[in-house]
Amino acid sequence: MKNGDKRDRRSAKAGGSSVSLSIVVPTFNEAENIKLLIDRLARALRGISYEIVIVDDNSPDGTWRVAQELARKGYPIRVIRRISERGLGTAIVRGLREAQGEFIVVMDADLQHPPEVVPKLYEEALRSGADVVVASRYTKGGGVKGWSRIRLLISRAASLLAYVLLAESRRTSDPMSGFFLVRRSLVERLRLEGRSWKVLLEILAKAPGARVSEVPYVFEQRRSGESKLGPRAMLDYVFDLLRLGEYRALKFVTVGATGTVVNLAVLWLLKGVLGVTEYAAFPAAFETSLTWNFFLHDRWTFRGKRREPGPRGWLRYWARYHGAALGSMTSYLVIGIGLTKLGINYLLAGFTGIVVGFLANYLISQYGVWSLHSQASRGD
Ligand code: GDD
Ligand code: MN
Repeated sequence: MKNGDKRDRRSAKAGGSSVSLSIVVPTFNEAENIKLLIDRLARALRGISYEIVIVDDNSPDGTWRVAQELARKGYPIRVIRRISERGLGTAIVRGLREAQGEFIVVMDADLQHPPEVVPKLYEEALRSGADVVVASRYTKGGGVKGWSRIRLLISRAASLLAYVLLAESRRTSDPMSGFFLVRRSLVERLRLEGRSWKVLLEILAKAPGARVSEVPYVFEQRRSGESKLGPRAMLDYVFDLLRLGEYRALKFVTVGATGTVVNLAVLWLLKGVLGVTEYAAFPAAFETSLTWNFFLHDRWTFRGKRREPGPRGWLRYWARYHGAALGSMTSYLVIGIGLTKLGINYLLAGFTGIVVGFLANYLISQYGVWSLHSQASRGD
């Protein structure tokens, strides 16, 4: 615990007895929302033993003070007032660590996340046995209120980006959700850092074996105060995705670049130097670069992700990789041989074929061969 942190002693004591559900609410300048939030939670959670953990970054508007007063009045609230630290991600992680409940819900204070959805998350966890339940805007029955077309488009594009860059995020329709439930025993096994706003993404990335379920909800308009999410947050998000994906997307592109060189070199050697027909040169170039790429992906891009060890596993994955490459092989051969026949330089034709087949190969590899979206990981 950091020295600067003051904890509300009185309510810390009350947290001694364990509860079924903890609700972690990070706050910054939410004094005007907090009372209504807590009232609505109290009403929604009748019959469930719960605690509310407010993690406030010493808000200038005194959010922490308002929360402490409510705790004094008997609401089951613990207030963590952070003096020396700031930031949404680390605030959430701090709250997750302090929470005592068997299940923990993370939600915003500004009532954009309806408190009435909290018991639904809890019931879904009990019903399904899931480790993570995401409150989703993008599943049947979910939605957003008062968003412009453009804001909706940006949000959808950001979700799509997560699908592409981070296979583990595919288990939910709303990977950017800040509203979710997580089993405490799972949190305790993960080393969460909160470097990103998107703690849900961090959980999904670090717990590929966790079971995920969803509950729809409608994202409301902010009741009072203002959003802290700026353009900077969008840029950070892209870097967060790359980092959480252990830079696999970048590695994949790098390997692809070396494979392209290998491919074109073989093509040149066979056709340019030895004068072999394109019907043999293109398939041979493809096979050589495919095996080259597989070797590097296995050793580097997806290092440690192969679930079948030894040479037999290597061969089986190599065969699977060929299966996954059928799409890119077809486009490569058709475009490469086709363009050559049309009189275009064979190296340019080969290069065009490689580029077209690339994206398909990337997507199929992470989902179809290494199965990153459903991997049962060691140690979780
Ligand atoms: N302790 C702490 N420290 N809390 C913070 C900080 C901080 O630095 N920044 C924001 N918060 C709190 C806010 O007080 C609020 O309760 C919650 O975090 C969300 O912040 P908003 O500023 O309301 O975020 P938003 O509405 O733009 O974004 C929401 O929607 C996104 C999806 O569109 C959040 O729920 C995001 O998590 C979510 O991804
Ligand atoms: Mn908000």
